[in-house]
Amino acid sequence: MPAYAVIGGQWGDEGKGKVVDYLARDMHIVARYAGGNNAGHTVITEKGQFAFHLVPAGILWPHVTCIIGHGMVVDPDVLIGEMENLERHGIDMGRLQISDRAHLIMPYHVALDRMEEASRGKGAIGTTGKGVGPAYVDKVGRMGIRMGELLDLDALLPRLKAVLEQKNRILTQVYGAAPFSLEEVYHHCRRWGERLGPFIAPVEVTIRRALSTGQRILLEGAQGSLLDIDHGTYPYVTSSHPTVGGACTGLGLPPSAIQGVIGVYKAYTTRVGGGPMPTELTDAVGDTIRERAWEYGTTTGRPRRCGWFDAVAARYSAMVNGVTWMVLTRLDVLDGFHPVRLCVAYQMDGKTIDHFPSSAALLGRCTPVYEDLPGWDRPTAGLTSWEELPPQAQRYALRLQELVGCPIAMISTGPRRHETIEMIPIR
Ligand code: IMP
Repeated sequence: MPAYAVIGGQWGDEGKGKVVDYLARDMHIVARYAGGNNAGHTVITEKGQFAFHLVPAGILWPHVTCIIGHGMVVDPDVLIGEMENLERHGIDMGRLQISDRAHLIMPYHVALDRMEEASRGKGAIGTTGKGVGPAYVDKVGRMGIRMGELLDLDALLPRLKAVLEQKNRILTQVYGAAPFSLEEVYHHCRRWGERLGPFIAPVEVTIRRALSTGQRILLEGAQGSLLDIDHGTYPYVTSSHPTVGGACTGLGLPPSAIQGVIGVYKAYTTRVGGGPMPTELTDAVGDTIRERAWEYGTTTGRPRRCGWFDAVAARYSAMVNGVTWMVLTRLDVLDGFHPVRLCVAYQMDGKTIDHFPSSAALLGRCTPVYEDLPGWDRPTAGLTSWEELPPQAQRYALRLQELVGCPIAMISTGPRRHETIEMIPIR
């Protein structure tokens, strides 16, 4: 009863969408377990380019059932828009299930996200502004509204009334903003229930049945491990668990079902939003990486901060996820750089350290210790075998693998399915 998890090993945007799509061919179920439409997973197929925000990237394979797990927070209008776009491309949505326990991102969460961010001033987290943080706050504060409640509007009304009274007090008295009308929000709930009702299901039952009949499940992580609410660079993190533990709580999946954890790592580092990033390059090299790799957010369009590969951070994320295999993406972006650099340790307050500090303030004081490796000029984009890689690129990949401490199962050399070097078959 194997389940495999695909998790981001850095600060997100590692190229998980392509990896999920590639592996989904051999899966029965692809399930997302955390986050919301702050994510943007890009997949390119013969049908075109798709940016998934809520629907699992496995939906493009007609035999795959896709699950939106209860660890997620769902903006119903974004989901409906995404489903309609996929339907226009001839993709059957009958294979989608939405957990009845998943929480809703309500219009007041989006408003609060933006107001809270503005009030943070210089300490802004740089959230995506999609209401993700405030929706998780309400979940933990036991004020959230769940998908299943859209199917029982009579029971929902008094809850919604109480929640909205509290939200409106905050909106009007703390932020001086306009309140939301109960009638209007309730009307949205009715509309969402009618549209999404047929897809809402107890997905833990689907998962259990799949496991007991030997079906294969791919767990699609969103964001990156260094944005995890516990393991990331707190407070500059997202409000969920992108790490593999989130898959168990976010789907009702027994940990023993997870046969392997696939850590996706970009051959360099990027980060979007605030918070420390020791290898950030604010010079022409960083700009070249950004422009060459088009490092702009799929969800927000914001420029991403770019830098060399940080093996200290990568080793840490491999540890907290128990990464079985690495997938290395976007190696081709480093073509033509001389040298290529790997951060192997940090200098902090006059000491050399090789662990990832828990405090954002300490990490902010870390400067990278680099190991320089010879670069390569021959293009690596689109290559499909290890032997075709320039020897310097091979050396870079092998050193990176050694520093992180996990074998590389796959190298992605481009956004299309076939632009892949498969080294260890995952199936
Ligand atoms: P939030 O998830 O919108 O609350 O944003 C919190 C932090 O996580 C911000 O720094 C965002 O830029 C970052 N973030 C959230 N989702 C993603 C993602 O999918 N990729 C990269 N960064 C993300």
